Amino acid sequence: CGIVGYIGKRNTQNVLIEGLKKLEYRGYDSAGIAVFTDKGLEIAKAKGRLANLETKLENAPLIGSVGIGHTRWATHGKPSDVNSHPHTDDSHKFSVVHNGIIENYLELKEELIAEGHTFVSETDTEVISHLIAREYEGDIVKAVQKAISHMRGAYALGVLTEYEPNKLVAVRQASPLIIGIGEGENFIGSDIPAILEYTRNVYILNDGEMAVLTQDAVELMTIEGNFISREMIRVDWDATTAEKGGFEHFMLKEIHEQPKAYRDTMRGRIDVSGKHVVLPELKLTPEQIKNIRNVQIVACGTAYHAGLVGRSVIEQLVKIPVETDVASEYRYRSPIVTPETLVIVVSQSGETADTLAALREAQSHGAHVLAITNVVGSSIARDADDVITTLAGPEIAVASTKAYTSQLIAFYLLGLYLAEVRGTQTPEQIAHIIAAMQALPEQVEKMLSQADAIKDFAEQISKHEDLFFIGRGLDYAVAQEGSLKLKEISYIHSEAYAAGELKHGTLALIEDGIPVIALATQESVLEKTVSNIKEVKARGAEVMAITFEEHVAGLLKSVDQAFAIPKTLPILTPALAVVPLQLLSYYASLARGNDVDKPRNLAKSVTVE
Ligand code: G6P
Repeated sequence: CGIVGYIGKRNTQNVLIEGLKKLEYRGYDSAGIAVFTDKGLEIAKAKGRLANLETKLENAPLIGSVGIGHTRWATHGKPSDVNSHPHTDDSHKFSVVHNGIIENYLELKEELIAEGHTFVSETDTEVISHLIAREYEGDIVKAVQKAISHMRGAYALGVLTEYEPNKLVAVRQASPLIIGIGEGENFIGSDIPAILEYTRNVYILNDGEMAVLTQDAVELMTIEGNFISREMIRVDWDATTAEKGGFEHFMLKEIHEQPKAYRDTMRGRIDVSGKHVVLPELKLTPEQIKNIRNVQIVACGTAYHAGLVGRSVIEQLVKIPVETDVASEYRYRSPIVTPETLVIVVSQSGETADTLAALREAQSHGAHVLAITNVVGSSIARDADDVITTLAGPEIAVASTKAYTSQLIAFYLLGLYLAEVRGTQTPEQIAHIIAAMQALPEQVEKMLSQADAIKDFAEQISKHEDLFFIGRGLDYAVAQEGSLKLKEISYIHSEAYAAGELKHGTLALIEDGIPVIALATQESVLEKTVSNIKEVKARGAEVMAITFEEHVAGLLKSVDQAFAIPKTLPILTPALAVVPLQLLSYYASLARGNDVDKPRNLAKSVTVE
């Protein structure tokens, strides 16, 4: 979900709507705003895209100088007008927008109902507005503090009351929130793009902190009411960074930004001799590195797939055992974590609730947690003991592309760095890999210039309902990401299989005309992969192979089509092989007429467990 709030002299409704547009990637099941107008606290909300709310407001604008807005990704209660935020209480004097989950909301709801409160929605948020109303005794700040003392869970809140229309109250507890500082006006937002159009000066709230905004001042305090001071951060992103830059979709733009993302992520991290990786940002000492006994990589979704590649990279380069887990499983499987465990959490947004919880779990066992994230100042970046920032720039499309590949680059850098400290690779081997890494950006550019070949194939597969990806080793890791990408945006059912495992069950699903995408770049197992390709071919599959140029002719004896990727080292291949798969899912989605950047049921940043 996304939150925005404004107090000042501008047209509040417009500031809220513009802010919400920048946050729509956080969820778009419904949207709503509350504005204090000359009639009191007025609320407008609508199910579906923000445009529906805009249409509603065209006929009945809300005019005032303070307001809060919300774009929702449903958690409690289905997407509907009534479940949309802002929520209010029986008196309609209080209004709340909320991002996160109140774990004990049912208990609180029953208690409030017993006290005579009437609820209109199924949401946990409505409980908050009733609680604040109950606790109100003439001071909204105190009422909010009292209300949240009853609440358990994760939340960012924006609160307004008709009794004190010169105040906007914001709270952060395990869900992101920032404060934007203007002149004679102030803002709240779930993240920076929401307010960037109006101000570049921000405070980032920490968990357990709140802010009270008036037109001319912002007071920061803990939720217990102790005043705090905070350094203001100046944001130097340019506003167009978040625009589409001439591409039809953010996703296509972001696919094309990968060469830049690779260069930016490597910049300053390879010394001038080209022989060493330097990671000056790391607090991890050489001594700690030498003591690492095992590595655990934890992440969700696409970041998890980057972690699968990371596992091979670190095992191969550093010779330490590595496990990779999805964050929502990691926490509950009682992982064996010691102070000699290096836990690496990977997250584009740095806000994924499951990943953040895994980070805390690992820290509670004394592990050193290193985050690979794309968002500076995000919750994960701030809580981790060490951070390697991927410099992919803001990623707007829900389907992750440049963030994933930048995560791969981060793993290569980290792997090489650890290998040098532990002496597990010779200086020559390290220099050799670095040189090949430096060639990657140009190699991606070359593939992007051949996108049309992929487009044709994508149009063919867009007519199918099921397909398969196969590969061995690192090809299997890439296959899993390719399959997820396709599912996310084209809604074609697909599965990624370790090529050798297919015959143990899934082969039963192969029938005439089923497309199979075979990744065949890992030369040490190429012959075996070819055998697996023959197994599906013999059952009638239409096979497209992704391989190096030198193997195209040979493979074409067994497959129907082949796409050649530029030659690189086996370990670096994922950073190239995934690109045609990204394009494949993009064009398949386009051919099916889907909303590429905003696939159904998904959100860019999932801040609930
Ligand atoms: C959501 C997104 C995925 C993403 C995952 C992890 O589910 O839809 O695309 O991979 O979260 O996000 P993170 O920001 O932690 O990398």
